[in-house]
This record gives sequence, C-alpha cells and structure tokens, in this order.
Amino acid sequence: MKIDFHSHFLPGIDDGAKTPAQSVEILQYLKRNGIERVCATPHFAKHGERVSSFLEHRAGAVRALNEYIDTNGIDRETLPHVTLGAEVHLYRNLSERERLKELCYEGCDRILLELPFRKFEGWELEEVYNIMYQLKVTPVMAHINRYTGFYSKSEFSDMFYNGDFILQLNCESANTFSGSSLIKKTLKSGYDLVFGCDIHSPEKVSESGLEKTEKILSKLSTDRLHELENFERSVLNR
Ligand SMILES: [Fe+2]
Repeated sequence: MKIDFHSHFLPGIDDGAKTPAQSVEILQYLKRNGIERVCATPHFAKHGERVSSFLEHRAGAVRALNEYIDTNGIDRETLPHVTLGAEVHLYRNLSERERLKELCYEGCDRILLELPFRKFEGWELEEVYNIMYQLKVTPVMAHINRYTGFYSKSEFSDMFYNGDFILQLNCESANTFSGSSLIKKTLKSGYDLVFGCDIHSPEKVSESGLEKTEKILSKLSTDRLHELENFERSVLNR
C-alpha cells in the first residue's frame, strides 16, 4: 500500500485535524509508514453545502497547511504527496447536485462515496448508478467494512461486489478478526480494491490499522502485490 485514499488531515474543515500542526503529525506518520501519496477527503456535506463553497473551504485549508509547512521549515520529503478529493455523503438525488463531478479525486474521474450508516434501503444502489452514469465517473465506495453490521450478506454483495465500483477498505479492519477476514476475502476475490486509513487526528494514528494491514499485504505473492500497487496508481491516473 503506497496510497492512502481516505484521510481527514486537512486542518479546520471537518471533524478531522484541527490545526496545521496536527495535519503535519498525521502526514509524517503516514510517510514514516510507507505512504507516498495521501488523498485529502474532507466530508461533503450532509447539510446542503454548495460544491463551490466546499471547494473554497478546502482550498483555504490547503493554503493554511502550506503556510505552516513553509513558516516552520518542515522538510517536504517527510510528507507524502497530496491529492485533493472529498468524501461525498450519499443521499437521494445526490446525482442532481450541481458541479458534483468537481468532487472527484483531482485529475481523474473517480469519486469517493460514503453510504449512510443505517440499514440498506435499496435506493442507495440506484443512486450510485445514477451518479456513475450521469456524471460518467467511477464510484469508490468508502470504508465498505463499516457496513457489514447494517447489511445482510446478499445486500452487502449486491451493493459492493457487483464488479462496477472500486472498493475502499479502511485499514482499521485489520484490527479485528472479522475485519481481517474481510480484507483477505476481498483481496482474494480479485475485485478492484484500495485502502485508506481515514485518520482524523494524530491521537488516533496508532488505531488506524495501517501497520496490521501492511502485515496482511506482506503475505501476498509479489505478483499480487505489484498488481495492487499498479491498480492504486491507476485509480488516480485517469
Ligand atoms: Fe472518512
């Protein structure tokens, strides 16, 4: 794993890092643990925020972070590269929101979608397909490990293992037996898969599961590992 696809390290924009100093702590932790690129994915937006104002806030957070890094002479070699994105909360008719496509990961047509934390109601799948076909983007389904308790086996499989979406697992899954099994099963299944640490604060880095995820990945064959690393790079490259 060289790319973290899900992170809340940008300062003062959501429930993630509160200050640029916290952002740098998170970023340095990731770099020390082998992450070369991290995607900034602040939450967008359950409560009607416009895409334009979200993008302004995000740009402001990036400016504040860069100023802090420069003012304090922090060596950029100690930080991963950053790709901007958003964690877009799914609700009915989200596909009709103006300028939604601008929330894709920078430079490509992939968008990180977070499903509601509740029982599967059926409209979710339809809405994700609406987004996919109307915007011509590929959905990246955020932290699918968090829905095993809400969805039945068949709902889980219809929603995630349909072959049309990219699956994002949080490294935190590696902290539990059932989560590790899900990682291993998904790796084995051959579905398109990326990882994220979803870190919100420097106090929580040790719970991110990154090191345990690396341990699971280290047991893969060299070929499978290369395949995964090529895939994660390809996700941000078009
Ligand atoms: Fe998140």
